[in-house]
Amino acid sequence: MSDQPEEYRPDPLTPVLTRRWLLPESWTLRHYTELGGYSALDTALATDPADLVTLVKDSGLRGRGGAGFPTGMKWSFIPQPKPGEEPTEATKDAPQFKPKYLVVNADEGEPGTCKDTPLMMADPHSLIEGCIITSWAIRANFCAIYIRGEIVHAIRRLHYAVKEAYEAGHLGQDIHGTGFDLDIVVHAGAGAYICGEETALLDSLEGRRGQPRLKPPFPATAGLYAAPTVVNNVETIATVPSIVAGGKEWFRTMGRERSPGPKIYSLSGHVERPGQYEAPLGTTLRELLEMAGGMKDGIPLKFWTPGGSSTPLFTDEHLDVPLDFEGAAEAGSMLGTTALMIFNETVSVPWAVMKWTEFYEHESCGKCTPCREGNYWLAGILQRMNAGQGTEEDIDTLLDVCSNVLGRSFCALGDGAVSPITSGIKYFRQEFLDLCSQQQSPAPERVLAGAH
Ligand code: NAI
Ligand code: SF4
Repeated sequence: MSDQPEEYRPDPLTPVLTRRWLLPESWTLRHYTELGGYSALDTALATDPADLVTLVKDSGLRGRGGAGFPTGMKWSFIPQPKPGEEPTEATKDAPQFKPKYLVVNADEGEPGTCKDTPLMMADPHSLIEGCIITSWAIRANFCAIYIRGEIVHAIRRLHYAVKEAYEAGHLGQDIHGTGFDLDIVVHAGAGAYICGEETALLDSLEGRRGQPRLKPPFPATAGLYAAPTVVNNVETIATVPSIVAGGKEWFRTMGRERSPGPKIYSLSGHVERPGQYEAPLGTTLRELLEMAGGMKDGIPLKFWTPGGSSTPLFTDEHLDVPLDFEGAAEAGSMLGTTALMIFNETVSVPWAVMKWTEFYEHESCGKCTPCREGNYWLAGILQRMNAGQGTEEDIDTLLDVCSNVLGRSFCALGDGAVSPITSGIKYFRQEFLDLCSQQQSPAPERVLAGAH
């Protein structure tokens, strides 16, 4: 977390999730416990699982992975036996009698997104405590944390924290003498962006090539090994202990009515102090820029992404958009991963859009034609334009291809891939036109300015 000057905090209640991050050896069990860690677990284990689900539902917590699905509602979809219901020959294979699983999506791959990795580095026990509470709530005895294979340092830290939790009796058999058993496995992926899509992640976890599955059925009814599975993002799960400890009213004092609670925003690019900034949901870029010391070297803002490159580009017109699920939607975007990539006026929009499109072309899993072929053609056209060989017709061709990818792709990757292109042309059409009419590539210094 960046060093935030106290006076710029928009709400005295935050930080919640990042409050331990700057302490020495914040990742150790000793420090976590000294600061009240694992006390929410005792409260949770003394609470009926169904009441915990209701608590999280009433808190209004929504998924922090990008889509904002209500967390408690997702948990409530896990089929459970009715009180006193025992399996019979006829019902023994029914979903309520299958094992339940918790899978944590730690495959943080959205360009610009850097919130889950620092959380796991600085405060892995908040995630582990959240996993145990969630598993108790959904009656799971097995939890897998699926983490990006490239972030070896975070994998090691998680392994160490899980080991500490086992040794302290927070994991394993008969946790805290309650009779509840839970095992956590840290599973490293192999670097495919698509494995952040929850069903591709499940396929990968099962040992298959990671490709999205048809939904429905959603993982809540048929997930890992076709059993009921909750898939939640790291930040979502790490928020759970604070709700158990603080209560739903406290949680709702932060953020907005339909998007309550704290959020970690990651700011990168042309800002004075890039980093992670925790603030209540609904905080605006203008406020976050103040926290981050403003635009780098005072060079004015040109465009930015509210939630990674899968969300549309915003401009300085959007400085006061409340960055929560409703605020972003009203401004024509999704909140996404709250990865705010900030670009000043030295950066070429067609060049930045080309770089993102090359990423999507590379990461398309190839399962469906619109995304596999569409991104290939989009990247090719943008490369031609940026090489100074584009024509004005290319702009219409780009939009035409985008309209054949959007809404026609098998998973969200296809839809996300066209967002920077359509919004880039919407707000900066003249720049695309100039690039084509001048028949020259963007000046090297403009390209370099965007490269860091
Ligand atoms: P989605 O809206 O399809 O689903 C969200 C969650 O709600 C899923 O867990 C899904 O299983 C559940 N759900 C939705 N409807 C349901 C129903 N009727 N019954 C049971 N469960 C239901 O969104 P998706 O495709 O999971 O995620 C898209 C988001 O992911 C985008 O906002 C994007 O920003 C974000 N993203 C995040 C990345 C990261 O690195 N964190 C990477 C790429 C994209
Ligand atoms: Fe694969 Fe892209 Fe189709 Fe998703 S949209 S299934 S990533 S080809």
